[in-house]
Amino acid sequence: MSAAGPGARESRAATHAFEVRASRRTHVRIGPGVLRDLGAVLGGRRAHLVADEHVLELHGARLADAGLGDPLRLPRGEAAKTWPALGDLLERLAGRRAERSHLVVAFGGGATSDAAGLAAALYRRGIAWIACPTTLLGQVDAAIGGKTAVDLPQAKNLVGAFHAPEAVLADTEVLGTLAPEERRSGLGEVAKYALGVVPDLFGALEAEDWALARAARAGDAGALDALIAPCAEAKGRLVAVDEFERGPREALNLGHTLGHAIETAAGHGAVPHGVAVAAGLGFALELAAEMGLLAEPDLPDRAAELARQLGLPRNLAELERDLGLRLDDRPLLAALAQDKKTQGGKARFVLPRALGRLELGVEVEAARIAEVLARRGRPGPAP
Ligand SMILES: NC(=O)c1ccc[n+]([C@@H]2O[C@H](COP(=O)([O-])OP(=O)(O)OC[C@H]3O[C@@H](n4cnc5c(N)ncnc54)[C@H](O)[C@@H]3O)[C@@H](O)[C@H]2O)c1
Ligand SMILES: [Zn+2]
Repeated sequence: MSAAGPGARESRAATHAFEVRASRRTHVRIGPGVLRDLGAVLGGRRAHLVADEHVLELHGARLADAGLGDPLRLPRGEAAKTWPALGDLLERLAGRRAERSHLVVAFGGGATSDAAGLAAALYRRGIAWIACPTTLLGQVDAAIGGKTAVDLPQAKNLVGAFHAPEAVLADTEVLGTLAPEERRSGLGEVAKYALGVVPDLFGALEAEDWALARAARAGDAGALDALIAPCAEAKGRLVAVDEFERGPREALNLGHTLGHAIETAAGHGAVPHGVAVAAGLGFALELAAEMGLLAEPDLPDRAAELARQLGLPRNLAELERDLGLRLDDRPLLAALAQDKKTQGGKARFVLPRALGRLELGVEVEAARIAEVLARRGRPGPAP
């Protein structure tokens, strides 16, 4: 990691730059105004802008100097991640006579980078792409690491490819227009990192009576900036050692087994990804406690307080209350059985043992899952 060099403009003082070295190298830049570097990163190469239509409306002008042509628009959010939308995007690339040497530039949240990245992976058997994530969730997590995918009705991200972007430009200035619910979703992934991967971040969030957590929840730009680089760098480190998720990278699935099942059971797009992950974190803690894996008995309380301070649901009951929906156990259990990590009918979970210490690939019997799920969350202090 390196900060902007001497002579950088004042607004660049907080720029973080690092490289993820896996089968491809990804140059990552995070900070206010980094979208202004897009033209230089492209260096005159022809690129096709694939953008979330809402983000284009709000922030398209920031790309004016990059020399891109007419954008290929994607529907907002998760609607971009369908098989028909992917086919349509590929046909539009072909209609533009996109060539092997051209690039795709993805401009939007995690849904846009997942869909545009998969199109780049498939088109002409793979062309290069650059991710310009515009959501907190995209900047802390989704744009980094080369996982791309679309959903099928049966499960989230069921069709995808590993195809790392050449560069990630995470311009934190665009986060100012994010709806509170989308910010909350990004904070769900941040909670995952703090609990399981970057314990120092948990300490930073908790310090001074949760000052950083409360500021981030309120959308304070400096607070959000402070959270992004530690998470993105931690993801980069895990991807560098385990690009294809055969071992340590699995840690990033903390909270995701139930999280994905919630998204599928509710209908893709109905529950913001990170909000579902937050409820999944609570579930993972409960399973860990139930199975005698917890080395720190107070961890569930600390994690529940983190969730409360970030405005996140601590469990499935709170998620249902927040979003005004009720998910039956049956579709949740069916979605769990369809999860990519499920093997031989047993769902696999990442479970916490202690702050920053995880047990990967824990197989859990269907009967135990059903029992814990039916409780809808451990009774805790009132919100
Ligand atoms: N590939 C990965 O490694 C990975 C990791 C985590 C999540 N994901 C995927 O990411 C997706 C979720 O991504 P997301 O949370 O970024 O949401 P998203 O891309 O669905 O966008 C959510 C909403 O925010 C709007 N938006 C985006 N940027 C904005 C801005 N700057 N200002 C105002 N509105 C803005 C969009 O128009 C959309 O309505 C899920 O499909 C999830 O599965 C992928
Ligand atoms: Zn996620």
